[in-house]
Amino acid sequence: VSRPRSTIFSQGQYRPVQLSEGEIDEILELCQGSLRSGRLTSGPLIEEFERSFAAESRMSHAVAVSSGTDALEATLRALDVAGRKVLVPTNTFAATAFAALRAGAELVLVDIDPASLAPSPAQVERALGRVGDIAAFVVVHIGGFIGGEIKELATLCRRHGVAMVEDAAHAHGSLYAGESPGTWSVAAAYSFFATKVMTSAEGGLVVTNDEAVASFVRSYRDQGRDPNDPLINVSLGTNARMSELHAALGLIELRHLPSVLKARRQVAEWYDRALDGLPGAAKLPPVKGCEPNYYKYIVLLDSAEMRSPLREFARSAGLSLPSGVYDVPLHRQPAFRHVDPAESFPFADDFCSRHVALPVGRAMRKSDVEEVCSVLRDFLSDRSQWRRR
Ligand SMILES: Cc1ncc(COP(=O)(O)O)c(C=O)c1O
Repeated sequence: VSRPRSTIFSQGQYRPVQLSEGEIDEILELCQGSLRSGRLTSGPLIEEFERSFAAESRMSHAVAVSSGTDALEATLRALDVAGRKVLVPTNTFAATAFAALRAGAELVLVDIDPASLAPSPAQVERALGRVGDIAAFVVVHIGGFIGGEIKELATLCRRHGVAMVEDAAHAHGSLYAGESPGTWSVAAAYSFFATKVMTSAEGGLVVTNDEAVASFVRSYRDQGRDPNDPLINVSLGTNARMSELHAALGLIELRHLPSVLKARRQVAEWYDRALDGLPGAAKLPPVKGCEPNYYKYIVLLDSAEMRSPLREFARSAGLSLPSGVYDVPLHRQPAFRHVDPAESFPFADDFCSRHVALPVGRAMRKSDVEEVCSVLRDFLSDRSQWRRR
């Protein structure tokens, strides 16, 4: 396929990290201040980052850590899940499940509702009935979408004495009914890995309204230290601290998050319009009340067999499609082959095998969206393209 490439394709503006020159200057200025002060970790930038993130999320506490995996693990440890079971959707990144295992829990997987990309209350209730002693349920805001039944999930968990935790690694700035992750659960765990909507290069953070969870995570990230006496270690801990330099990056990214979200939502709106009525592929139906950050713009192909040929077709047109969320669900990953081998997960299997993500970036223009859509349209209009392979 020969296609004139737009500048945005050839200049690689779909690269995950998109910092403007202005932002880089702001970050460097904060880093210089930190380097000159000699406070390289656990200093004023961490405090400001945590204060700002909590305020933006309208949550009482934010505790920064060194990764999203640590944020989840520390939260689950705060909930004392060791020796008990933790329920995790099968369509997530391995880190969600590894965090539960590292916190000493036994893993139980649950299927998803394709309408929300998260387990439905009925699916969670069935899992609670199938296996006893579930300490926690981790709901994952996959692709930045907060499912329409988040409040019902919270109510169900409360009724059964199960702690609900949100994996918000994809959901910086995503809202449901105007509220942020953490609002409905015991705590929400964010990742600031380099490809996320907001980054600190590497890093994570827990938001919670629960004072006990916040103080546990603060102590756990810092070798289980007594907050009032750093010479005393009161419980098992680790080093999961975030450095001042990472906090500098996080703080500036947080300041620019509103404009990034605005740009991403505009790109999604252009896609929504351009993909209307496209035969062979469907947009995700909007979830009432959810304002996603479009960490991923997801399209569902009519059949799983179309995906590899589409990716290949796009690549030959100069377009490399972003990775999905996720192509291989946990129950099909070798690392989790021992978990629930008799259980089936048909909805997650179907979603995972048929979806693709389209590029979303803050620097994208309408013409870039149109170009991506025309690659998709060309592929779909010539179905022999994928049947032949
Ligand atoms: C859904 C999900 N959970 C947890 C994580 C873990 O975050 P991190 O890579 O910062 O440890 C990620 C990050 O990739 C993720 O996508």
